[in-house]
Amino acid sequence: MKNINREELLSAAEIARRVKELAAEITAAYGGRRVLLVCVLKGAVVFASDLMRYLDLPVEIDFMAVSSYGSETATSGAVRILKDLDSSIQGKELLIVEDIVDTGLTLDYLCKNLLSRKPASLKVVTLLDKPARRKVEFIPDFCGFEIPDYFVVGYGLDYNQDYRQLPGIHILHPEKGELQPEG
Ligand code: PRP
Repeated sequence: MKNINREELLSAAEIARRVKELAAEITAAYGGRRVLLVCVLKGAVVFASDLMRYLDLPVEIDFMAVSSYGSETATSGAVRILKDLDSSIQGKELLIVEDIVDTGLTLDYLCKNLLSRKPASLKVVTLLDKPARRKVEFIPDFCGFEIPDYFVVGYGLDYNQDYRQLPGIHILHPEKGELQPEG
């Protein structure tokens, strides 16, 4: 793994504490009802697998993979579904699990797409929220941490597919042009 300069923003212990708190909030919100977790690949895998173990509810999980069409069309919010859910969600209580909300375009699209399939309810939990980067208004129902506009990696988040396995969240500092500006 390339040794790019990084500094820890959130430790594994801080994340674990907050994930348990979020799980308690979510457990209370669903009052014993069955919930279908929709984990958005790949970044949310670590968060979803930790979170679900603390939910005191009947839980199912399914996975979606999406990718944005690219910078020219990004402002349109056009998102391509690379992997869809395995089965119908009609009448189910859905909780989308994301690692980060940035521009909001991915979740704006996903929510509209999933709502058109008539679930009983739809909520969103994100571990991280960067409100400073929003291009469309989007407010998650549950949020772990609001963070400034840093490029962060670890706990599922990547830089060119590296660093997803770090137990904490780290800020990457651009060095010698290795870290290209986002978007
Ligand atoms: C990240 C994140 C969200 C999206 C948020 O995924 O997991 O899905 O970007 O950005 P937005 O609010 O600007 O739409 P990414 O495309 O990095 O894919 P990955 O999860 O596979 O790393």
